Amino acid sequence: MSALHPTPVPPAASSPRDMLGRPLHDLRLSVIEACNFRCPYCMPAERVPDDYGFDAASRLSFGEIETLVRGFVRIGVSKLRLTGGEPLLRKHLPQLVRRLTAIEGLADIALTTNGSLLASQAQALREAGLGRITISLDALDPVLFRAMTGGRGEIADVLGGIEAARRAGFDSIKLNCVVQRGVNEDQALPLVEHFRGSGIVLRFIEYMDVGTCNGWRREGVVPSAELHARIHARWPLRSLQPQYRGEVASRYAFVDGGGEIGFISSVTAPFCGDCHRARVSADGALYTCLFSGEGTPLRPLLAQGDAAVADHVAALWSARVDRYSELRTEAGSSRKKVEMFLVGG
Ligand code: GTP
Ligand code: 5AD
Ligand code: SF4
Ligand code: SF4
Repeated sequence: MSALHPTPVPPAASSPRDMLGRPLHDLRLSVIEACNFRCPYCMPAERVPDDYGFDAASRLSFGEIETLVRGFVRIGVSKLRLTGGEPLLRKHLPQLVRRLTAIEGLADIALTTNGSLLASQAQALREAGLGRITISLDALDPVLFRAMTGGRGEIADVLGGIEAARRAGFDSIKLNCVVQRGVNEDQALPLVEHFRGSGIVLRFIEYMDVGTCNGWRREGVVPSAELHARIHARWPLRSLQPQYRGEVASRYAFVDGGGEIGFISSVTAPFCGDCHRARVSADGALYTCLFSGEGTPLRPLLAQGDAAVADHVAALWSARVDRYSELRTEAGSSRKKVEMFLVGG
């Protein structure tokens, strides 16, 4: 299957629908809650210090993860994204990828990483069968990049990681840039200029009120329409059809053939209506929305095998009513919500 154009796999007969009629297609699984960066919009160092209480013993083992994923596949999941924290901090990740690629019915395995450790791992991940990689990149300017990672990131490492991924043979590489008003909006055009024509797909993400740490204000959001206008004025764009129903990014092609870019507009154009994503934290809790207050622990079920996981998750999914982004209010954004670094975006 072409990684760039994932063929939507029809849901299995037993695939549950939630209360709003949405099937379950994607699983986003965190393999670790720790991260070597402290991006202020996700994991600000003053709220999440190094001794925060990260706990390797709490993480699902590779065997448990395999059972869990098999359970989700039984009820219609065909797309898996591994996330963190920073997933490349999880020891022996390529071994996990190899085990997961052997699961029949899983058509697509992707990874979201900050890219800082990718240079040394890209080849092993590719050999293990990883299909696609998405790398977070909020700035090209080295000083700003460092600030946006909480003083911990080096842009050269991330650019080296992107290059290594390319050399390793990944033909679907995406970049995620979270844009904040007055912080990194001036990086949009330089980023486009840098990656245009490279085959790498840059996506701009509206800054969201995820978690409880980032002090989100609506004024901090740069609406995608505004960014689109700025980019279009320099390099004309034309819109592309979605590749599959419920695609998060709106895609555009450069009219001059310079490839494509995307906009993820959860604040100005919520996409809850087609949301078919479940999230599981590294300790095995299910979150049916990126903005859920509480997760449901699945770990106790894992000893009973993948059929038990499937039944339980199907029941939970059937009761789902989440549509946070469609209901978002400034006041509501301060309620209890799972932290982004626990469920990986
Ligand atoms: P593919 O199409 O499989 O490549 O993935 P994707 O387009 O869903 O992209 P990715 O998984 O990299 O998600 C990019 C970003 O979009 C995330 O980091 C989030 O910021 C945002 N996002 C993804 N899924 C959701 C969602 O369900 N709700 C909201 N509000 N934001 C989401
Ligand atoms: N708003 C939007 N996207 C966010 N991410 C993390 N925090 C936020 C936020 N507040 C996304 C980034 C990163 C992914 C792991 O999560 O795109 O690439
Ligand atoms: Fe780490 Fe990603 Fe969160 Fe930044 S956004 S702190 S890289 S998990
Ligand atoms: Fe899905 Fe929740 Fe995001 Fe809406 S806000 S798209 S329901 S994860």
